[in-house]
Amino acid sequence: MKRTKLLILIMLPLCVLAAPCAAEEVTESPEIRCDPASVLGAESCAKCHEHEVSQWKKTPHYATFESLHRKPEAKEIVKKLGLKSVKRNDTCVRCHYTRHEVDDRVRVIAGVSCESCHGGAKDWLALHNDYGGPSAIKADESPEHRQQRIEASVAAGMNNPANLYLIARQCLACHTTPDEKLVNVGGHAPGSLDFELVSWSQGMVRHNFLRTGGTANAELSPAQLRMMYVVGVMADLEASFRATAQATTKATFGTTSAQRAARLKQKLYDINQLIDDPHVARALEVALAEPLKLGRSDALLAAAEQIGQAAREFADEANGENLVALDSLIPKPEMYKEQ
Ligand code: HEC
Ligand code: HEC
Ligand code: HEC
Ligand code: HEC
Repeated sequence: MKRTKLLILIMLPLCVLAAPCAAEEVTESPEIRCDPASVLGAESCAKCHEHEVSQWKKTPHYATFESLHRKPEAKEIVKKLGLKSVKRNDTCVRCHYTRHEVDDRVRVIAGVSCESCHGGAKDWLALHNDYGGPSAIKADESPEHRQQRIEASVAAGMNNPANLYLIARQCLACHTTPDEKLVNVGGHAPGSLDFELVSWSQGMVRHNFLRTGGTANAELSPAQLRMMYVVGVMADLEASFRATAQATTKATFGTTSAQRAARLKQKLYDINQLIDDPHVARALEVALAEPLKLGRSDALLAAAEQIGQAAREFADEANGENLVALDSLIPKPEMYKEQ
């Protein structure tokens, strides 16, 4: 404790002197993985992914860059938190914008963009499309090489859709809004309470042009939708546990986060009634054993960790073809989020 205080005292005068030191108010959330130093920006994807970029431009993820700071509700939240401006503080920026760092200077360059979901691309860009050297083409790639390529991209920080959990946890790190002060003091919405991965990703957010060679924005097969549904529930359960672990008072944030976690326990329970999967069963067991109470932060975080691990393994190993029993739970297209 003493040591931290001392550090703060030492840092403070430096902050006042150095100009771009907007980091005083940070309520850091390690769950939102998008290191500004690895971010390249959507323009660096556009060369090869122009369809994905134009689809993204039709979403609030893109629009928030130009719209958020003009909204009276946003200004009100910023005022209540005693922050200066919407675009110049770490609190709003880590969920509403993409940050880009050059020479220790951090700038906001976009709203929620490609790398907010897929991970900062600096270290994986050259790996993810390498079919085996400059002259190699997709048609000649062996399944083993493809597997190695995907693994290399993930090891270098890519949230590759080959494992949907890697992306789902990004969605939920933002969409559970795990920041007590932001909600209780700022009056920000306590997360997107009706978030559900299939319906929230298969409407305006969908950009599956790769698998059609750019000719159409492909819909997922029933097997893929089942996988996505389960992964979404598990990732939401994990994130709701993490949010509940942060709560220090019995106000809106803590209550809403615990209720959300309880609702997701129930959803996972329903899934487990219908299918026989070791990862789902393990995650459920961990979740049911953990009371959603204040003052149990460490235990809740440990449970969240295990649920996340189970979700990741489920995403790797399960086969949607075997999950037909879930079909009554999967949201229908009329429930998809459109503009
Ligand atoms: C030089 C061209 C090029 C650039 C630039 C590029 N990509 Fe790709 N990307 C590809 C190709 C080719 C594939 C298809 C790989 C395959 O066949 O699996 C791909 C596949 C992907 C996939 C699907 C997962 C996979 O591994 O197949 C994602 C996600 C992706 N790219 C995201 C991005 C993002 C985000 C950026 C910008 C930061 C980006 N790409 C920049 C060429 C590129
Ligand atoms: C932990 C992530 C997170 C942080 C931090 C965050 N937001 Fe949000 N915010 C969201 C999400 C997710 C939504 C979308 C909620 C929905 O529609 O379901 C949202 C929605 C909003 C909305 C309503 C959407 C609209 O366009 O009308 C406003 C206003 C807003 N945020 C302002 C702020 C301000 C101001 C800050 C900084 C003080 C901030 N947010 C920080 C995640 C966050
Ligand atoms: C870096 C944080 C972040 C990530 C990651 C993220 N979102 Fe969002 N999302 C937001 C914010 C902030 C908004 C609200 C933007 C606004 O209106 O100002 C939003 C809005 C949305 C909306 C529009 C909601 C509405 O009511 O119109 C959908 C749909 C959505 N997100 C789906 C997703 C999905 C699916 C994922 C993951 C595949 C995801 N988001 C990942 C921050 C994020
Ligand atoms: C809100 C989170 C989010 C954002 C923002 C986002 N993606 Fe994705 N991306 C996903 C998800 C989730 C999938 C897997 C979709 C699926 O399986 O249906 C995906 C899949 C892909 C794929 C593979 C599609 C296919 O046909 O297999 C590519 C390529 C890709 N994204 C590139 C991009 C690029 C380029 C951008 C920026 C213009 C971007 N993504 C922005 C979440 C996101």
